[in-house]
Amino acid sequence: MKIKALGTPFSTTACKVLLCGGGELGKEVVIEFKRLGAEVVVLDRYPHAPAMQVADRSYVLSMLDGEQLEAIIRKENPDYIVPEIEAIATDRLVALEQDGFTVVPTAKAAQLTMNREGIRRLAAEELGLATSPYQFVDNFADFERAVREIGMPCVVKPIMSSSGKGQSVVKSEADIAHAWQYAQEGGRAGKGRVIVEGFIDFDYEITLLTVRHINGTSFCQPIGHIQENGDYQQSWQPQAMSELALERSQDIAHRVTAALGGRGLFGVELFIKGDTVYFSEVSPRPHDTGMVTLISQDLSEFALHARAILGLPVPHIHCHGPSASSVVLVSGDSTQLQFGNVAAALSEPFTDLRLFGKPEVKGTRRMGVALARGNDVEEAITKAKAVVAKLEITL
Ligand SMILES: Nc1ncnc2c1ncn2[C@@H]1O[C@H](COP(=O)(O)OP(=O)(O)OP(=O)(O)O)[C@@H](O)[C@H]1O
Ligand SMILES: [Mg+2]
Repeated sequence: MKIKALGTPFSTTACKVLLCGGGELGKEVVIEFKRLGAEVVVLDRYPHAPAMQVADRSYVLSMLDGEQLEAIIRKENPDYIVPEIEAIATDRLVALEQDGFTVVPTAKAAQLTMNREGIRRLAAEELGLATSPYQFVDNFADFERAVREIGMPCVVKPIMSSSGKGQSVVKSEADIAHAWQYAQEGGRAGKGRVIVEGFIDFDYEITLLTVRHINGTSFCQPIGHIQENGDYQQSWQPQAMSELALERSQDIAHRVTAALGGRGLFGVELFIKGDTVYFSEVSPRPHDTGMVTLISQDLSEFALHARAILGLPVPHIHCHGPSASSVVLVSGDSTQLQFGNVAAALSEPFTDLRLFGKPEVKGTRRMGVALARGNDVEEAITKAKAVVAKLEITL
């Protein structure tokens, strides 16, 4: 991966970064690049996406439209193409990389992780990492057989989906038909292939933020989180772990990120049972549960991503102590949301809030995140939740 010198935006020396995706995670990535004087372009499918609001320029398009995506990338000619979401025409990124463009961390990483089959086969079959037992199937007859072979309970997911879309747990015979139907409706690429995974009765799950940078690989302290309705509700750092489980987690994260290559920050999702660690999946980019690092670390996951991409060193990652994040979920239908009582919500020391500025809510949407530090993780979680609870949101 090449290194481009930092320069002056809008001039011939500009270090130009193009983000494919402009959500709340991308917004923080843009801010970090802007702090280092980069010129930043953001693409997303709707205007005024959070990251567009802090970028120098933006384009509205479907990033699954390979032709349009390539045309914009060629026009902008960025030094770094930074995928922020999974739903991108990654075959184009592969072609552009072969043509000399730099894709973060690599086009292969973007391609393998946008499809559960790519990353699962790499992790389990090539690298030999422990995962849940799994089968990929394309039709209902094979699906029924896979559920019997893997056994119940099992987890069913479309191969291309995120945030729990189309995902369900089959606990008994009665759930089988519905799980299939639900997965057919929830996949990004429409009907088709699903993964059937054995249910791991884990003690807890973590995100291990892993940075591949110019001088090697570094880890953040493990982040624990609670998932509900397909999205994370609270995350905290550090998650208490046995030394052995942490060592094994770092080993798995090291191996899977090395296989994906390039420079950047990765969110490695792991399930922990006793001292046994199962690989679940990996994002080759900042992770939503890692928003806690906006308050817990001297260099947030977004700052680490920017540093790694730019070829800057990561000599140390300092964790300030027990910290937590709690999401601000809003339900309803509005394009003029208003946040009241924020002053009271932030009256406790060591609390903070990010409001993403998303232009619209329809259904339930994550519109912000509360952050807190505490004497221990429990206190930090309680404080972060209290910030959310005090907000008075009007549609
Ligand atoms: N095999 C499994 N056994 C037990 N729990 C599981 C299993 N697979 C997934 N889960 C639970 O469901 C959550 C979401 O699963 P997964 O990360 O695969 O879906 P996703 O749609 O990619 O989610 P996201 O995009 O939010 O990361 C996991 O964090 C875990 O809590
Ligand atoms: Mg996940």
